[in-house]
Amino acid sequence: MLQKTLVTYSSLTGNTKKVAEKIYEIVDGEKAIISLNEINSVNYNEYDRIIIGFWVDKGTADKRTREFIKKLSGKKVAYFGTLGADPASDHGRTVRERVSALCNENNTLFGEFLCRGKIDPKLVEKMGKFPLKLIHPLTPERLQRIEDAKPHPNEKDFQEAQNYFMKILKLNLKK
Ligand SMILES: Cc1cc2nc3c(=O)[nH]c(=O)nc-3n(C[C@H](O)[C@H](O)[C@H](O)COP(=O)(O)O)c2cc1C
Repeated sequence: MLQKTLVTYSSLTGNTKKVAEKIYEIVDGEKAIISLNEINSVNYNEYDRIIIGFWVDKGTADKRTREFIKKLSGKKVAYFGTLGADPASDHGRTVRERVSALCNENNTLFGEFLCRGKIDPKLVEKMGKFPLKLIHPLTPERLQRIEDAKPHPNEKDFQEAQNYFMKILKLNLKK
């Protein structure tokens, strides 16, 4: 029997929403997609599987997403996140470890996916000014990371996200 799947997302500047919509396209069976801003309008307990999309804030999932995950219990969950840094970097690994641990506290994690997302130019502007200037100085390395993130999420990211979720959703059906 096909399972009911809910895709949720939290997105400040649109990157995560775009990835969420691409993943939603490839989900089979009964499904719904909803922004966490409107999560109170659905009964998420009706769904067998929840795919949770977040943007990375200070090295972990954004606050709204963390609060949502904490409310879930006994669910099969998978996540996808967008971040400015390279997902394969140490920072990317730390984000995965933190969010995976949170998902596994009261639920069963069956998939995890991160991809890059451009950093809002307004944030970059703020980083150049006091007080963020002291916390996140715009070093050449940071400027390079911001530049590298600019074209993301792109078609390749969407394709990788779809391929990954197609694979894990199929595997999860057998369990
Ligand atoms: C306040 C703030 C904090 C952020 N912190 C991080 C971070 O710790 N690590 C990182 O790689 N990217 C960080 N980013 C970049 C975002 O995670 C990235 O641009 C993401 O794709 C935004 O997704 P959205 O467009 O769905 O809001 C931060 C962005 C903002 C605005």
